Formats: sequence, C-alpha cells, structure tokens
Amino acid sequence: MKHPNHKNHQNGTGYFWTLGKHALITGASNGIGEELASHLTSVCRKLTLVARNRDGKLDQVAKRLNQIHSHRGRFKTEIQPVSLDICDTEAMSNLVHQIYEKGHEQVDIFINCASGSHVYGTLESMSYEDIEQIFDTNSKAPVFWLRELLPRMKRNKMKSSDRKRAHVVMLSSRSGERALPKLSVYAAAKGAIEKLAEAVQKEYSQYRIVFTLVNPGSINTAFTAEWDPKARTLIMQKAWLLQR
Ligand SMILES: NC(=O)c1ccc[n+]([C@@H]2O[C@H](COP(=O)([O-])OP(=O)(O)OC[C@H]3O[C@@H](n4cnc5c(N)ncnc54)[C@H](OP(=O)(O)O)[C@@H]3O)[C@@H](O)[C@H]2O)c1
Repeated sequence: MKHPNHKNHQNGTGYFWTLGKHALITGASNGIGEELASHLTSVCRKLTLVARNRDGKLDQVAKRLNQIHSHRGRFKTEIQPVSLDICDTEAMSNLVHQIYEKGHEQVDIFINCASGSHVYGTLESMSYEDIEQIFDTNSKAPVFWLRELLPRMKRNKMKSSDRKRAHVVMLSSRSGERALPKLSVYAAAKGAIEKLAEAVQKEYSQYRIVFTLVNPGSINTAFTAEWDPKARTLIMQKAWLLQR
C-alpha cells in the first residue's frame, strides 16, 4: 500500500484507492498480517481477518483493532475475525460465498499472508508431514483461494475514479527468488506461488486486477522466533551474498 504522498495518489491506483475498501487478510493474527491489518484500520471500510485463532490470538487482534479508530479519530472500520484453516477448502469456499452471494459484498483487496513453516533443515532431515504442511499452507492453499476469489473479483464494482478493480498481494519470501540451503522445501513452495502470481496477472490484467508479490528477508516474528539465532544470522548473510 502506498503512502498518500506517493505520485499515484490521485490516479485511483495508490493509497487513496484503498480508502473505504474491503480487505481480506489471511494470517492476520500475528506478524506481518497483523501489522498490515493495523495499518488498514481506519483506512478500509471493512477488514475480514483470517487465521486459525490459536490461543484466541485472532480475537485479541480484532479487539485491539476495534479500539484503534477512537485513538486515530477517523472512521470506524468494521472488523470481522474469521477462524479457519486456510487449507480447509470447504470453509474457505463458504467464506467467499458468504461475502459475495449472501452478503452482496466484494473483496477489493486480498492479502495472502498466512503461513506456517518453522522447519529449518536439510531435505533428508524433513518428515513427509513437514513437507506436506509447507506445501499445503504456502502453495496449495493460495492456489485454491485465488481459484475461488478471482472469478468473482473480475465482476467487482468500480468507481469512475478507480483505475483498478481489485488488488491481490501475495507474501512470498527472499527464498522464493534466491534459494538457500536448509530452506529447500519452503523455497520451492514460495517459488510456486511466484509463478502462479506471474501467470494469473497475465490472465486477469484485462479485468484490471493488480498483483503485488512481496519478498521479505528475515523479519522478527513468531515465524522466525523458533529458529536457532545462529541459523538466522547465517541465512541473512547468505541471502546478502546471493544478492551481490
Ligand atoms: N517473518 C519472516 O522473516 C518472513 C520472511 C519472508 C517471508 N515471510 C512470509 O510472510 C508471511 C507472514 O509471515 P509472519 O512472519 O508474519 O508469520 P507469523 O508471525 O508466524 O504469522 C503467521 C500467521 O498465519 C496464520 N496461519 C498459519 N497457518 C495457518 C493456517 N493453516 N490457516 C490459517 N492461518 C494460518 C497464523 O495464525 P494461526 O496460527 O492462529 O492460524 C498467523 O496469523 C508468510 O507467508 C511468510 O512465509 C516471512
């Protein structure tokens, strides 16, 4: 999301486009997703926040965001927390159906942020379950979410000032572009959604659906907290060397 001062602010594609929109964020109970939800509170009209709600964290985030608008002195964003596993295709499909067909609403911004890979190790040290879980959350689930959302998004209503109909943000990783040892499966899974985003962008540009791929380096969240600090430093050094 761009800052109001950005040059796109008046052309219906930048920050001002997000004002009053409905954003659906997966993985919104922690880390990057939670931070994005905080930024979009009092900017978007509605936020649908998805996570499994482990330890009631999603409910806590929703409660906190519900109080933000009074501090910011701006309008109140409707916050809807939804507890579901992103890999549960039936629950995902029901949610999208609830929004579009039952609620006569639309998703203007989809932020695919949920993930769960704390495995740092060589391929041969990983169990089949680890491998399946990494692919399920990082690759397969995003494919199903886009399969469900995009056909509906292409019929989203637009204001005359809007230059885009919807915006899809896919959280990948530095590992998606520059594979690192001991993150092979994670890198393969993130690489898959990069190709997915590249291809569907071409399919949906005619409908003015815009895609953004985000490739963060190591960020201090629950996702990396369980890694050995030495391994984390090593990853950062290797990533830096590979960029050169
Ligand atoms: N942090 C980094 O250094 C880093 C670097 C590069 C890329 N990334 C990417 O950035 C994204 C966010 O990472 P993060 O560091 O913010 O992670 P995080 O702090 O661990 O948060 C992960 C979020 O995803 C949710 N989640 C995990 N599995 C889920 C599932 N099966 N269904 C529904 N929700 C699920 C978690 O909530 P519940 O557990 O309650 O479901 C939580 O809200 C990920 O895609 C990650 O791969 C992160």
